[in-house]
Amino acid sequence: MSHVFLVGFMGAGKSTVGRLLAAELKLPFLDLDAEIEKHVGMPIPRIFEERGEAGFRAAEHDALRDLARQPASVIACGGGVVLDNENRAELERQGHVVYLRVSAEEALARIGDVSGRPLLAGDAAASARTLLSSRESLYRGVADITVDTTGRTPSEIAAEVRVRLGGLS
Ligand code: S3P
Repeated sequence: MSHVFLVGFMGAGKSTVGRLLAAELKLPFLDLDAEIEKHVGMPIPRIFEERGEAGFRAAEHDALRDLARQPASVIACGGGVVLDNENRAELERQGHVVYLRVSAEEALARIGDVSGRPLLAGDAAASARTLLSSRESLYRGVADITVDTTGRTPSEIAAEVRVRLGGLS
């Protein structure tokens, strides 16, 4: 059995839905952002401060490779994991990819305090819109399943993902 990777923009609910889904599927839950912080030994905002986005992306790439080697799990990925070609190939190779879709407006409402998200510093609404529109095709391109999360609870989303994953293999 392979992994289930959850991708999508910040605030899409990847970690919350991922935990529920992992419990339902009786698989471990892994969080790529947490793994990066463990690898580097710093919280994400500090990695961006000290190493810049490029340093963060390098750590993200290494952490993804390590998590993909673990036994089958549900893995919540950071919103930017799809930017790297090799990461996208790794996701496609190592499991099923689920894209949790959210609008920029809803994402910001869910996130609330953006201080833990360095890419949303400054004009968060403008940054969210620009980033999401530049990534939308990458999320769709890598996904086996796309689920719209707007106005739905994490349990409803997890239930839909579970049913649709069952139809894949
Ligand atoms: C990022 C999303 C964040 C985190 C980092 C960069 C992005 O993860 O990896 O701040 O580029 O969209 P979440 O999607 O879990 O918030």
